[in-house]
Amino acid sequence: MDWGMKNRLSRLIKPDGHCFFLPIDHGYFQGPTKKLERPEETIAPLVPYADGLFVTRGILRACVNPENNLPVILRVSGGSSVIGKDLAHEAITTSIQEAIRLNVAAVGMSIFVGSDYEYDSLVNLGKLVNECENYGIPVMAVTAVGKELTKRDSRYLGLCCRIAAEFGAKVVKTYWCEDFDKVVNGCPVPVVMAGGPRCETEREVFEFVHDGMQKGAIGLTLGRNVWQHDYPEAMMKALHAIVHKNASAEDAEEIYEDVKNS
Ligand code: 5RP
Repeated sequence: MDWGMKNRLSRLIKPDGHCFFLPIDHGYFQGPTKKLERPEETIAPLVPYADGLFVTRGILRACVNPENNLPVILRVSGGSSVIGKDLAHEAITTSIQEAIRLNVAAVGMSIFVGSDYEYDSLVNLGKLVNECENYGIPVMAVTAVGKELTKRDSRYLGLCCRIAAEFGAKVVKTYWCEDFDKVVNGCPVPVVMAGGPRCETEREVFEFVHDGMQKGAIGLTLGRNVWQHDYPEAMMKALHAIVHKNASAEDAEEIYEDVKNS
């Protein structure tokens, strides 16, 4: 692997081989999502516990202090909205020159396997990898499901992750599911877990994150279950302990309660 590619990946994936990225890219199709109306206020207190931010160029420029050294994964796909015809209809919206100008550690885009735009999103991924390889920039593929959240099973997500890796993604972001080891084992590159919509309890989040880490995920790109929570810093600290300190769900809950009550 080229020096630049290795260097960028090592900024994102910590020496223990694990990572916890904070995604705040939701506005690119959801607009001012709940608790992300003023992203700079949401992001600032959480930065100390994150290993990287997943953002669009607009939010990066407007809401993230360029003097902070947190590595950035730049979302470079988009083109649809929650009120549009089809969330899967995306293109590459941000150039490689822009990614370099913004000094990002990686770029990220969504693929929509099984949708009407499967072909387009996969060809977009191939083209993005072609360009990024020229500059040593890793690509994170996001296995998106649009509004069809029920698609999240190991057979479907395993298919998506494997295809993303075959197209050259260096990291794949997918949802946790039952039998998550089947997803990870079929994917020859590292897998990070997204959180999806808010879970009912903190414990539920800690349980699935712990299970996913035990089954081979290298970390998280988990947003709403952190920043839509009433105690986002407590959630960050507790999840950080699962990812980087091998904490159990019980340990994480204790950390959460301690921070919440302090
Ligand atoms: C939105 C995304 C998000 O980054 C991803 O879904 C992770 O966030 P959450 O944990 O809120 O699901 O790719 O398209």
